[in-house]
Formats: sequence, C-alpha cells, structure tokens
Amino acid sequence: MSKGDFKLQFDRARDFIEKSLEDLCSRPVALVPPRLMDSMAYSLRAGGKRLRPVLCIKAGEVFGLEREKTVPLALALEMIHTASLIHDDLPAMDDDTLRRGKPTNHVLFGDALAILAGDALMAWAFEHPLSVLPGMGLPSDRICRSMHVLANALGPEGICGGQVLDIDPQSMDDSPDFPWKVTRQKTAVLLRASILSGAVLAGADGDSLEALGAFGDHLGSAFQIVDDILDVTSTAEELGKTPGKDESQNKRTFVAAYGLQKARELAARESRLASEALEGVRGDTAFFSDLSDYLCERTK
Ligand code: IPE
Ligand code: IPE
Ligand code: MG
Ligand code: MG
Ligand code: MG
Repeated sequence: MSKGDFKLQFDRARDFIEKSLEDLCSRPVALVPPRLMDSMAYSLRAGGKRLRPVLCIKAGEVFGLEREKTVPLALALEMIHTASLIHDDLPAMDDDTLRRGKPTNHVLFGDALAILAGDALMAWAFEHPLSVLPGMGLPSDRICRSMHVLANALGPEGICGGQVLDIDPQSMDDSPDFPWKVTRQKTAVLLRASILSGAVLAGADGDSLEALGAFGDHLGSAFQIVDDILDVTSTAEELGKTPGKDESQNKRTFVAAYGLQKARELAARESRLASEALEGVRGDTAFFSDLSDYLCERTK
C-alpha cells in the first residue's frame, strides 16, 4: 500500500470514529449529572490520534466484519484510553496540566470530578457495547470473549497494574527488563486488546489471533518507546502535552535506560518484529504493516 493510500484509510477510519464519538457525547442522558457528562465529554472530544479505535475497526475488517458492528467496541477502547489519560494526568500521578493541546481534565473540573469522570468512562466502556452488541445478530460467545479482552487490558493485569509499576517506588526495580515490563502492562496491553477485541468479535481463527497478539505486543512497545523519545525531543506545541516530564519525575523510561540513540534502534526493531508477526495472520494485513512504520515515524 502506498503511503498516501495508508493515510487515506487511517483518516477515513478516524473520521468515522470522531463522528460516532460525537453522536455518543451529544445524546440526551437522563440520569447523568450535567457536570459529570461535561467532564467526560470534554476529554472524549479533545482529539488525539484515535489509534485504539482505528485498530479495532481495522482488525474487524480483516475478518470481514463491517465497522458498524465493531464501532461499539472501538468507542469503548477510546473511553478506556481517555479515562486512563485523565487519571494519568492527576496531581497524584504524573501531575500534568496539558493534554491533547488543552488543559487537563482536573485543571478545568477539579480532582474529584476528574477521578469520577475516569471511573464513569471505564464503566461506560462496558455498559455501551453490552447494551448494543446483542441486538446486532452477533454470536453471544464472541461478544463475551471480546468484552473479556477489554476487561483484562484495563484491570490489575493490564493498565492498572502497569501504572502501579510506573508510579509506585516500592514496585520499581533497576533490572534491564523493567522498562519492558512497565510498557507491556501500561501501554502495549491496550493496543493489543484493541486489535484482538475487533478480531475476536469478527470470528478470527486461533492462529491469526495469536499472530495479532504478537503484533500488538511489539507495536505497543514501539509506540511507548517513541512516546518516551518524544518526551525528550519534542515541543509542547507539537505534542499537545508537556515535554520533559519523564526526566523531571525520574521515570524509568527507555530513554533513561538506554539513551536516545539506542531507544530509536529499539523502536525500529520492535516495529520490524511487529510487521514480521503479521505473517501468521490469515487475511490482508497491509494496513497494519504500514501502521507500524507510521507510528515509528510519528512526531506526536
Ligand atoms: C498516550 O497515548 C499515552 C500512552 C500510552 C503513551 P496516545 O499518544 O495514543 O494519546 P492520544 O490519544 O493521541 O492523545
Ligand atoms: C501513560 O503513559 C500510559 C497510560 C495512560 C496508561 P505516559 O504517562 O508516558 O503517557 P503520557 O506521556 O502522559 O501521554
Ligand atoms: Mg504516566
Ligand atoms: Mg503521563
Ligand atoms: Mg509519556
């Protein structure tokens, strides 16, 4: 696929997600306190790459499932991701004031609302797909398995565990493996789940799921290594978040562990391993292969 074709496909999927998110955020919600809805919608509407929902609908398409059926899961993934960012930015965690080029949620709404908006988004991420997917004629075991993929990625074995490793001094160690361990749990886990949940819902075979899981792990590592690099090399204007935070907070990032040059090499290696893993997938994976190059070259 040419670079232009890839970008067109990505942008189309992203536009579809933006529209679906907007529909969701502007629906009347009887029992939700307006300030809570405002806080949730503020962060959901704030933009971002929409990488996780794009991965989900593209994975469904590889196995023939139309995006109208994967979109409830795709939105759920963006809710989980957005909730994790709201919490990540709190003063008790990374203490950030800029996210997606805008003030962070707690800066505008206060810590209590930011915590509760994150909690509410995490619950909505299960309530929404569970309320619409059963009416779409999909086998219930596929719905159940795809929701399990999401729950596992968010829970103690996933983002929550990964964020503890990232933030809690008593959980850190100096082993060379440590940045890899943190990254797998705090970041790769949700990219992997984005691909697998879409593929599971579409009825992918076991070998393809295994190969896509390996793809997601390597893609996720490459993605976080690049995030660590950009924290050192980029600007607030370009990133939409405050650069230089990792060093000032003594984070055990890939740049801290290996230096910039080696970190760049590791990102390129993980991206190559991601593409190689796709060989085991029974379906057209050209989009995913191009995506791993694109994410390595990204500037935000
Ligand atoms: C930021 O994720 C948090 C990490 C896991 C590194 P993204 O870089 O995907 O953030 P948005 O969604 O584009 O804002
Ligand atoms: C955040 O990692 C990972 C999650 C939110 C789970 P970072 O703390 O590096 O993300 P940024 O740099 O603030 O986006
Ligand atoms: Mg963090
Ligand atoms: Mg952070
Ligand atoms: Mg970061």
